[in-house]
Amino acid sequence: MVKETFKAVKVSEHVYWVGAIDWAVRDFHGYSTNRGTTYNAYLILADKITLVDTVKASFRNELLARIASIVKPEKIDYIISNHAEMDHTGCLPDVIEAVKPAKVFASAMGAKALAEHFGMDSQITTVKDGEKLSLGNLNLTLVETRMCHWPDSMVTYLHEDELLFSQDAFGMHLASSERFADEIDETVLDVEAAKYYANILLPLSSFVAKTLDKAVGLGVPFSIIAPDHGPIWRKESGGIIESYARWAGQKRTNKAVVVYDTMWGSTAAMARAIGEGLTAGGASAKLMPIGSSHRSDVATEMLDAGALLVGSPTMNNTLFPTLADVLTYLKGLKPKGLVGGAFGSFGWSGEAVKDIASYLKDMDVEIVGEAVRVKYVPDAAALLVCRRLGEMVAERLGEICDDRQQPEP
Ligand code: FEO
Repeated sequence: MVKETFKAVKVSEHVYWVGAIDWAVRDFHGYSTNRGTTYNAYLILADKITLVDTVKASFRNELLARIASIVKPEKIDYIISNHAEMDHTGCLPDVIEAVKPAKVFASAMGAKALAEHFGMDSQITTVKDGEKLSLGNLNLTLVETRMCHWPDSMVTYLHEDELLFSQDAFGMHLASSERFADEIDETVLDVEAAKYYANILLPLSSFVAKTLDKAVGLGVPFSIIAPDHGPIWRKESGGIIESYARWAGQKRTNKAVVVYDTMWGSTAAMARAIGEGLTAGGASAKLMPIGSSHRSDVATEMLDAGALLVGSPTMNNTLFPTLADVLTYLKGLKPKGLVGGAFGSFGWSGEAVKDIASYLKDMDVEIVGEAVRVKYVPDAAALLVCRRLGEMVAERLGEICDDRQQPEP
């Protein structure tokens, strides 16, 4: 890797992007990254030259080459580690070895995490929440944002450029040759930002809300928000902040997600009948056969859905493993304020519906009506029962959501 090939990209008067683009990654701890991702790192050209975050271990050379296109890496005085997860620190020990910075800064929890990952206890200078750091001609404030995304997380604000290095917050998994959000199709940004929030930050929503309050409490302008994944927000950055406030509030709409698998088509037929009932009752129905829907796409649909209905055939006295997978994943994301129900076909014992109901109970989902179990193949009467379940869920959604459509005549 040579500096002639990999170039830094100017972000603001004093800041360059020196990260890496991962066009290949399709799985990020269980989250399907269909559009790849970036690991963003930033170089501040101040009297004390400072690197903010590093990249995944396998992209070490790309990072160093981009830095070298601006300054010799050995000229770096400080490294700030905003977040200890290895997509941002995997090559930190190597970079420290190559650069030999005067200081490496992290939060107290960050120092602990870096020690536990890499055994680098003595190399880290800890900073307090809200601590100011002078780079000579430029000034930083470092603010802890615990649990956004890990206990160690913090953000760094560069006052002179009104730039917030926000680490995981306000990011998305999106590989692109463009570095700025205003250069990318808004639809793609909306989808990927929502998917990132739903799959990474949803269970930490109360911490996100606190972080947003803390950011506003700083009383400083954010002309540029530079996250550790995806594009940099330099215009309309308020839009992503508003989206985060909305998502953190877990506002529910009248959308119902119906997730199911099927053995010989019976549970699928039940799902379609439930979908008809939902629509007839004024809800928006999103059917997601799990064989063709990734768990992380289900989670994304659940970001604003008000209802979750889950269907599975019984196999070997329990639910299908595909449903156990998605329910385990959704349960971990801790969505709040849902209504829903369970359904499925069976041949002998029919435990799947009970197993689904148990997951929904653990998720504090308000169960609407009775679970629907059908032996072998649903007949016309059974399909009407399914349709009625859909109508009842739609009715309940109408009571708890504000955006109900008019029922069909
Ligand atoms: Fe991008 Fe929590 O790491």
